[in-house]
Amino acid sequence: EKGTYPFYMLKEIDEQPAVLRTLINAYIQDGAYHIDADLLQAIQAADHLYIIACGTSYNAGWIGKKLLENWANIPTDVYLASEFAYDMPLLSARPFFIFLSQSGETADSRQALVEVNCMGAPSLTITNVKGSTLSREASYTLLLHAGPEIAVASTKAYTAQISVMALLAAALGNIPIQEIARDLGIVASTMESILAEKSRIQGWADSNLMETRNAFYIGRTSDYYVSMEAALKLKEISYIQTEAFAAGELKHGTIALIEEGTPVLALITDPVTGSHTRGNLEETKARGAQTMVISMEDTARDGDDFVIQSVRSELRPLVSVVVTQLIAYYTALGRGLDVDKPRNLAKSVTVE
Ligand code: M6R
Repeated sequence: EKGTYPFYMLKEIDEQPAVLRTLINAYIQDGAYHIDADLLQAIQAADHLYIIACGTSYNAGWIGKKLLENWANIPTDVYLASEFAYDMPLLSARPFFIFLSQSGETADSRQALVEVNCMGAPSLTITNVKGSTLSREASYTLLLHAGPEIAVASTKAYTAQISVMALLAAALGNIPIQEIARDLGIVASTMESILAEKSRIQGWADSNLMETRNAFYIGRTSDYYVSMEAALKLKEISYIQTEAFAAGELKHGTIALIEEGTPVLALITDPVTGSHTRGNLEETKARGAQTMVISMEDTARDGDDFVIQSVRSELRPLVSVVVTQLIAYYTALGRGLDVDKPRNLAKSVTVE
């Protein structure tokens, strides 16, 4: 039930810190990673991981790739399920497949799993729904423990998927448990401090996103992957045509789209590439863009619109995305739209 909330989406955004704490307790028990040893062995036996998913789950896959490569040291690629099923890449000798699906019922993902099962390859489904089709048909399952997600726009499933992949990558990479438990705990409380600043985010959305027909998110490295999710969220519920761009690519074409007043939102949480993204943002500003910067304490500069407390570098997507979920929510709300049921969309897409 949504109780006093006007929309499920806002309730589900608010639930994220609690979901994260539930996941820490589910996957870390008695001072050890609580993940099926057979699953860990099957992944360790692989020479390449293939993450397959659609929509928001696909966007989460890119953050999962970074975590699995950085912590577990296994090469990982990410594919759209609808493409993978009919245009399979040349696979490695010992592939392992990871399916991400909130519902566990997405037809495109299921079709890819059918192909994988035909090859006899091992697979894992990371899903919110126990007993769902993808869970039943994959070799292994890890649950998101996020509780029912009702809003069509997925929010808590995205952060739960990233958190489960972080715990999985940490277990595979033997990252010290205390470290991970502590760092994910810091993420949960940082999410709470963002959630306490809703009115500031609503104010920015009200002043900048009510009239526009298009908008851009830009970022580099993981900030670019979060931009993909931020853009999907904003477009699906506000109907503003929003695109995500790797900030360095702007000058290779996209900057031609910038007009007086075009909103350009930059995610700058990566200390290494932050100043490059700022340079790219300045170029859009010089052409009339209405800019916004979401940064982190150690990447911030005076005048940034939203500065998030610093968290461990690999986990930054878990907090920066919350700001963008709220931007999407308040934009759709301000435009008087049905936030939970955007036009033309279904919660679970059961046709290919
Ligand atoms: O249930 P799934 O995670 O497999 O769903 C995948 C997409 O259909 C879903 O994430 C969709 O993109 C959402 N509407 C995004 O908010």
